[in-house]
Amino acid sequence: MEINVSSPGNIFLLGEHSVVYGKDAIISAINMRTICKVSKRSDDVIKLNSEDYGKFIENIKNLEAVEEYHNRIDLVKDLVSTFYKKFEIDNGIDIRINSNIPKVSGGMSSSTAVLCSVLDALNKSFNKINKNDYFNFLIPFQRKIHGGTASGVELFSSIFGGYNKIKMSPLTFENLGNLKLHILIVDTGIEARTAETVSYVRNGWKNDKNSYENIFNEIHDIVNNGKKAIKENDLEELGKLMLKDHELLSKDLGVSHPKLNKIVKIAKKNGAYGAKLSGGGKGGVAIVLFPKNKEKIIIKKLLSQLKCKIYRTEVGVCGCENIK
Ligand code: MEV
Repeated sequence: MEINVSSPGNIFLLGEHSVVYGKDAIISAINMRTICKVSKRSDDVIKLNSEDYGKFIENIKNLEAVEEYHNRIDLVKDLVSTFYKKFEIDNGIDIRINSNIPKVSGGMSSSTAVLCSVLDALNKSFNKINKNDYFNFLIPFQRKIHGGTASGVELFSSIFGGYNKIKMSPLTFENLGNLKLHILIVDTGIEARTAETVSYVRNGWKNDKNSYENIFNEIHDIVNNGKKAIKENDLEELGKLMLKDHELLSKDLGVSHPKLNKIVKIAKKNGAYGAKLSGGGKGGVAIVLFPKNKEKIIIKKLLSQLKCKIYRTEVGVCGCENIK
């Protein structure tokens, strides 16, 4: 029997980086997904095939955990080996992974979606853990991807979906409902490594904890005002808060990029409610929140003034699930 599941990528409406320091963030699952198909084999071989992640064939007895990730496939090898060892599985499997989450420049949780879809597919094949345990199972892999420290909010969002206000350690979350937001995701084409931006902020914080904690607290307040704006469907206010958050991420935390700033400026000038970088920053993507009647002009101006790719996707969609 073939198991066929998918997991969403994510955007941060507000609160990236400060969430690593225990503050609140608002994250949303997006309708760009990673699909994982698995089917049991009659031997003891693991065979992986993926356009984006490459190929590997390994006998179960030779599976080994991977300490450091040097390329995309290491992440999948590590997850599969850990799952097989932990649950002492001796049945071979074919795994296929496909994704429509752009991964060149990062910022949309493509690796997180891979983790969730592969675990979900393995688990649905062998029935070992409850969905509520996915987070704890996956957080060590997310930490390796982020160079040692990760909030885990992206995992939560890819597993459970929706819009959530989340705070880590201890994990608390609040689902923010089913608001229909018009969002553009603007890909700078500049590759951004989350591990580098996270450690960049960490070094700054280590040198001057007070100043950084003040910024994190400011962002935390922005997130909580954002929650209120979402609950009241006040998109003008939400847009203003996104702009404020972007300014702090850019000027104070130093994780923006001239191209991200330009996207924000063009979007704002052409009628967007707000815009900001999303994810680790220093490249990757920006998101734009806009009133429907401004969509065409914003896209036109962005494409005429910048080399970028623009994606229009649904937000607040479901987490990892079976595909019929
Ligand atoms: C990266 O996509 C988001 C960060 O907040 C890191 C994290 O939450 O682990 C920068």
